[in-house]
Amino acid sequence: MTYKVLSSIATKSVNSAELLKIRTDLLIIGVNKKTTSAIELKSLKNSAKSLITQSIREINNGSRKSIFLPTPERLKAKNLLLIKEPKPKAASFLWIKYFSEIMNLAKSSKAKDFAFLVTSATPKTIDLNWLSEISARTFEASAYTFNATKNKTVVPVSVKKGSLLFGGLTSAKLKSVKASVITGHAVGEGMNAAKHLGDLPANHCTPRIIERKTKALKKHFPALKISSLNEKDLAKLKMGSYLSVAKGSDEPPRMMVIEYKGGPKHKQPLALVGKGITFDTGGISLKPGSAMDEMKWDMCGAASVFGVMQTLARLKAKVNIVGLMVCAENMPSARATKPGDVVTSMSGQTIEILNTDAEGRLILCDALTYAKKFKPSHVIDMATLTGAVVIALGSPASGVMANNQPLADKILAAGEASGDRAWQLPLWEEYEHCTKTNFADLANIGGGREAGTIKAASFLSNFTKDYKWAHIDIAASAWNSGTKKGGTGRPVPLLAELILKGNL
Ligand code: BES
Ligand code: ZN
Ligand code: MN
Repeated sequence: MTYKVLSSIATKSVNSAELLKIRTDLLIIGVNKKTTSAIELKSLKNSAKSLITQSIREINNGSRKSIFLPTPERLKAKNLLLIKEPKPKAASFLWIKYFSEIMNLAKSSKAKDFAFLVTSATPKTIDLNWLSEISARTFEASAYTFNATKNKTVVPVSVKKGSLLFGGLTSAKLKSVKASVITGHAVGEGMNAAKHLGDLPANHCTPRIIERKTKALKKHFPALKISSLNEKDLAKLKMGSYLSVAKGSDEPPRMMVIEYKGGPKHKQPLALVGKGITFDTGGISLKPGSAMDEMKWDMCGAASVFGVMQTLARLKAKVNIVGLMVCAENMPSARATKPGDVVTSMSGQTIEILNTDAEGRLILCDALTYAKKFKPSHVIDMATLTGAVVIALGSPASGVMANNQPLADKILAAGEASGDRAWQLPLWEEYEHCTKTNFADLANIGGGREAGTIKAASFLSNFTKDYKWAHIDIAASAWNSGTKKGGTGRPVPLLAELILKGNL
């Protein structure tokens, strides 16, 4: 299943006369201090002179932020929305919020389609390719609505398609922004795919259901090579650590492998490894009850692999990527792993499981060992790994730790460029003592509550010595709590940016 909401986002260039002829339910114009001078708005202003000029003035003097107008005669658009644009130097998150607000207004106006005009008064300091990509991405991502488990309260999404109109572009520039719009739309779709998997309740999204959905991708994206490993396959590979997490559940684990080869034949792939705990009760080290429902999003690392692989296939990206979705359910039961149990990982290192709630690292360590078989140039894992990263960084930034600084730098840069930001934490030797124990080669926790995010990464670093590796802790960024409760689709934008432009 794919999760495209908008069937298309077209890109067109318009002049003043053509703007009047655009047929759409909703024409949207961003307003800044220079908007009145935009040449492509000339006929529109003439046809409703006082109304448009006055609305632009009201937005600019701060008395209104957005204005809906019934459209003047001669204009083919049914409605007109004028909305205040962020300041040119505004941080990316403000631009993302702006495009998301536009889509929410379009949804609430029940428009079936929209046309967003990027005027020639757009400040020259703004890179139009960036603006095109991020707007198309955010329009698609914000059009997403979760209805899968509703019967009587389904909220139908009226908006089916859109277009981006550009005033005053050369044909070469138009061609290049068109490509950015296509990229942005595909990244938005990948985000929606990730959000949808995350938002599905755990009883509708078990490892086997994820396996089915992943295999179904093949229908839409024949370029993806998809396989899965079941509990027997994992046992043959001696993944004792991974299997110990699934032991308490009636739902068997599954590891999905998605291969995409769009790049030069012999170029080593980038491996992406995603934590896919479909529900994390904590196991025998049971979590407290409050907000435990949120642990259905503990598979968002795997969901981001699912999302970004579709984006790459849709774009026919010229890259080689292997995605691993490491799925299991963490439950307490008579068969569950107990604190103090010692298991043997695929790497041969034994692990004393002192806390069954530190399960993410236990499934990832075996997947990280398995990843070696693909001879990856780099390995990046994404995981909702620690509550500590929620405390350290909150939702604005995902936490990055790496054994290779150039790789960390590229991830941070991709975060800045895409507005899906990340911040690095140190992975120093000083933190390594946390895995020491008298009873196994490693312990899965240790050393108290301090630096929990780094200690989790430090544990993983014992399994990633043979390649360049980075770990992204997305426990705070992958979903929102509170009234906006739901998946965010992160870090799909960061990964897409890194893979498509990061030059790895
Ligand atoms: N999935 C959780 C991390 C988590 C907690 C994400 C809260 C989002 C919000 C992870 O499996 C976990 O339980 N981690 C423990 C580790 C601890 C036992 C060392 C944690 O962070 O409390
Ligand atoms: Zn977890
Ligand atoms: Mn846990």
